Amino acid sequence: MKKFVVGNFKMNTTPSEFNVYLDEFLPRIKDCKANIMFCLPATHFCVAKSRLEATNIKFLAQNISSEEKGAFTGEISNVMVKDCGAYGTLIGHSELRKRLKETPESINQKIIRALAVNLKVILCIGETKYERSTKKTKLVLKRQLDTALKGLYENELKNIIIAYEPVWAIGTGKTPTAKEIENTVCDIRSIIAENFTVRSSEKINILYGGSITESNFGQFVKIKGINGLLVGGAKKKKKSFANICK
Ligand code: PGA
Repeated sequence: MKKFVVGNFKMNTTPSEFNVYLDEFLPRIKDCKANIMFCLPATHFCVAKSRLEATNIKFLAQNISSEEKGAFTGEISNVMVKDCGAYGTLIGHSELRKRLKETPESINQKIIRALAVNLKVILCIGETKYERSTKKTKLVLKRQLDTALKGLYENELKNIIIAYEPVWAIGTGKTPTAKEIENTVCDIRSIIAENFTVRSSEKINILYGGSITESNFGQFVKIKGINGLLVGGAKKKKKSFANICK
């Protein structure tokens, strides 16, 4: 099965810079077999729609509102994102959980909103350094997953990808060992099995994210149970990101 390579642009590049990025990036991945996705700021959707239409790269939002519509200045709704041609949305990234005080309940609401308009969801989960050092990783992931997926039907899981991103590994140059990731992915699948079925836990796609580089990605992509990568910083260099995709 094709592996996913998801690039999270965060709040980097202007739309014009993104356009130039694509000039260099697209020829490099011409024959690439990976499932490539870009998580973009909404300001880039117009460029993405016209430049990516003829490619097999999909673009996603980095967040959507938990509300449907109305007086929510600065927010962007599920239908707005869908109407711009986005394939899906990232939900629950730790930077949003921390900076915008995103709660597990609002994450659940956002997932429900995304699925309601056929947007795919990449749900980010992960433990902090303190939670890891106090051996609470599994408990924390369970809490995050239980609430995020509450009320969903099993057949909706096909529209969800889980990104395991330890908070302490994001942008720090530190990563868990391959064995640690393998064990955690196993825990994530068992939590899904408890909430849904063993079959759905085997089928759900799980990505690893956090300090992936051109030189270390190989060890993560080979991990049993990992279906792809979520890349932040390394994506800034077109050549590195293209090499990871290839
Ligand atoms: P990083 O970011 O690759 O820079 O660690 C990953 C992410 O935030 O998704």
